[in-house]
Amino acid sequence: MDSLMIKGGVPLEGEVEISGAKNAVLPILAATLLTAEPCVIRRVPNLSDVKFMCEILRWLGAEVTLKGDTVRVQAKKIKGMADYDLVRKMRGSICIMGPLLGRLRKARVSLPGGCVIGARPINLHLKGFESLGAKITIESGYVQAATRRLRGSEMFLGGRAGSTVLGTANVMMAAVLAEGVTVIESAACEPEVVDLANFLIAMGAKITGVGSPTILVTGVKELHGAEHEVIPDRIEAATFAIAAAATDGEVTIKGARPDHLHAVLDKLRATGVSVTRRGNDMIVKRGGRLKPVDITTLPYSGFPTDAQAQMMALLTLTPGISIITERIFESRFMHVSELTRLGADIEIEGPSAIVKGGRPLSGAPVMASDLRASAALVIAGLAARGTTAVSRIYHLDRGYENIDGKLRKLGARVERVSES
Ligand code: EPZ
Repeated sequence: MDSLMIKGGVPLEGEVEISGAKNAVLPILAATLLTAEPCVIRRVPNLSDVKFMCEILRWLGAEVTLKGDTVRVQAKKIKGMADYDLVRKMRGSICIMGPLLGRLRKARVSLPGGCVIGARPINLHLKGFESLGAKITIESGYVQAATRRLRGSEMFLGGRAGSTVLGTANVMMAAVLAEGVTVIESAACEPEVVDLANFLIAMGAKITGVGSPTILVTGVKELHGAEHEVIPDRIEAATFAIAAAATDGEVTIKGARPDHLHAVLDKLRATGVSVTRRGNDMIVKRGGRLKPVDITTLPYSGFPTDAQAQMMALLTLTPGISIITERIFESRFMHVSELTRLGADIEIEGPSAIVKGGRPLSGAPVMASDLRASAALVIAGLAARGTTAVSRIYHLDRGYENIDGKLRKLGARVERVSES
């Protein structure tokens, strides 16, 4: 397993190019199962999760070729059942269920496990499939949705924490080939869901209302192939913006979509960070002494849960008391214990973390536990005095393309070492 050795205290300076969005490309790759014609997806980030999704598509029978940041997929004939272990290894692959149900009227995948950030149930996905007429059965670790006819229907997909991103994606991908009209109330509004809908529309689907809590899908007989460029990764952009502020540097973030980042930029500015836009580029630098802020994670367009850990790393450096409340996942504070190992002063009170910031951090060995917690540890290590070794960085490679290379280009003293 690899680790990142980080010699902290260097302000990040220069330009970083943002890659395609992981959380858009995964459902978009799954959507290629909806047609027998070839699809070409561009600006695909080089991530282990993406490679894994391509493996799953091949396993289902699709032809998949990866060339640079372009993937060509043709799912001429496909199986309706995914290998037990494949789906279990990456819960994001649950989003193949909707396209399999839409194309074959049958989908059988292993129940995705929970993960360190929460139980990750799929009850809302299944509620949506049932509403379209599918019969759901769960046996020997598999969940199956099957029906002779998929019929459009009205449904409410809101759950314990509001809307569901992949639940909305899954149901939308089944509904595009159902008979009649489907109305999804309490749909997710995330830009990644909008990007998926734009790809489906390019394939001939009839969808309106994306980006709002009410999505309307008029089913069509079949879909054709399409080409699509994936939106930039707003969470990667947020991560680099926060790292620039944490190291008191000045970074130009290129190729991001500032309009996807209003909540993050609002909170960064509230801490005193200056963010100026030049077209689609953002120049981020600390505008003086950092000020504490309170943050609550919410469904889009609220503050994204996927940037919560990274923001916490910045707030450990910010003199004063900041309160971070996590409203989306039940246990997304795995980074707290590791940040305290670097000298941070954080107390957890139920869904909130009380960050008493301002003490300088000092480097130490820490362990990554999940994708965004790892990013928080990297940010803290970049700001800490001395050396921080972040182990198990396979978590990072799931969602960040060449993060150590991008950081080195910004002047960071970061080395990837393998522990094997
Ligand atoms: C997507 O996960 C993202 N993953 C997550 O990003 C992101 O944190 C999450 O959306 C929220 O924005 C991908 O897109 C691959 P949800 P998803 O369904 O769709 C509950 C990252 O770091 N819920 O929106 O699985 C659920 O327990 C990852 O890039 C139900 O109760 O998340 C959670 O509390 C982590 N029943 C809340 O809804 C369901 O059927 C939001 O989950 C589904 C979800």
